[in-house]
Amino acid sequence: MKIIPCGTEHIEELVSFVVRLNSDDSHHIGFFGDGEADVRSSLAECVIPPADGFQLAYDKDQLVGVFGVDADPEIGRSWLFGPLIDHADWHSLADELYAVSVKVIPDGISEQDLFCDVRNSNLAVFAERHGFPLRSENAVVTLERADYKKPSPREAPFPIVDYSPEYFDQFERCHNLLFPATYFTARQIVEKLDATRRLFLGLENGQMKGYHFCKVEPDARSGYIDFIGVDESMRGRGLGAGLLAAGIDWMLSRPETDRISLTVNADNVAALKLYNNFGFVTGRVLRGYRKKGIDV
Ligand SMILES: CC(C)(COP(=O)(O)OP(=O)(O)OC[C@H]1O[C@@H](n2cnc3c(N)ncnc32)[C@H](O)[C@@H]1OP(=O)(O)O)[C@@H](O)C(=O)NCCC(=O)NCCS
Repeated sequence: MKIIPCGTEHIEELVSFVVRLNSDDSHHIGFFGDGEADVRSSLAECVIPPADGFQLAYDKDQLVGVFGVDADPEIGRSWLFGPLIDHADWHSLADELYAVSVKVIPDGISEQDLFCDVRNSNLAVFAERHGFPLRSENAVVTLERADYKKPSPREAPFPIVDYSPEYFDQFERCHNLLFPATYFTARQIVEKLDATRRLFLGLENGQMKGYHFCKVEPDARSGYIDFIGVDESMRGRGLGAGLLAAGIDWMLSRPETDRISLTVNADNVAALKLYNNFGFVTGRVLRGYRKKGIDV
């Protein structure tokens, strides 16, 4: 068995291997998404280029294992993409790959996240063996274009506008309150805005009371909802539904969008109810694990 860094020359082999294994629920890693286009866009979004962040394990000339590291020093967190292993000795190989991968985690990172399908029992055992506490269970919910049903607003709809810099302070305060220590800061979100990513703001008397950050991924023929949130004082008045509708209308205005998905904490009743009202259906359930500290 040999373990080598992926390098640019093995990227296509890496993609084929991940696509094959990740389609199997008992191997599935949440960070890669579903299907080849998702795998490619997940790799493209890595802060650490996959050529440097991924390790490959070969049994003779056969690729049998993959483990990747991505990390964001601004947030202080790393995301472990794997392990994905097609070998009888899953656990020994996982430990060998992890021992090499952990050395790739840059200085200044203090957290490591794992994310897998609940049916990936090998990874659950791996997480326990390496001291990763279970953090959350998340449902992947998906809306197929044909299933979109927009509920009519209960009261006069609130104005929904595109983000503009005058709202940055209000947006940052709201984002930090609703999603503390999440994977994108408010600054990172506004810097990402372009033709494929939009940030909708919901207003009341000129004040920002809620937001929705979403994106289209034309190659994957899909849209993705990253964050939707409403100020606690404004909940239950239809602002969340208005923001969700604005984002869905935009994502589906692009003819290449076949479906829209997101992950949501499996016990977030309010959000699940909101998505169900629009025609979203719950699919796989993913487990997130987070370990503090890096033991190299
Ligand atoms: C989820 C959230 C955005 C909903 O915003 P909201 O403005 O309160 O939602 P709305 O008033 O538009 O309600 C829309 C629907 O959601 C459901 N809903 C909202 N609050 C609910 C609650 N507390 N319990 C159950 N269902 C609820 C209802 O079905 C409601 O429609 P209905 O009253 O006609 O049945 C809001 O609760 C929130 O910001 N939560 C914290 C952040 C979060 O969890 N975001 C989602 C992460 S993926």
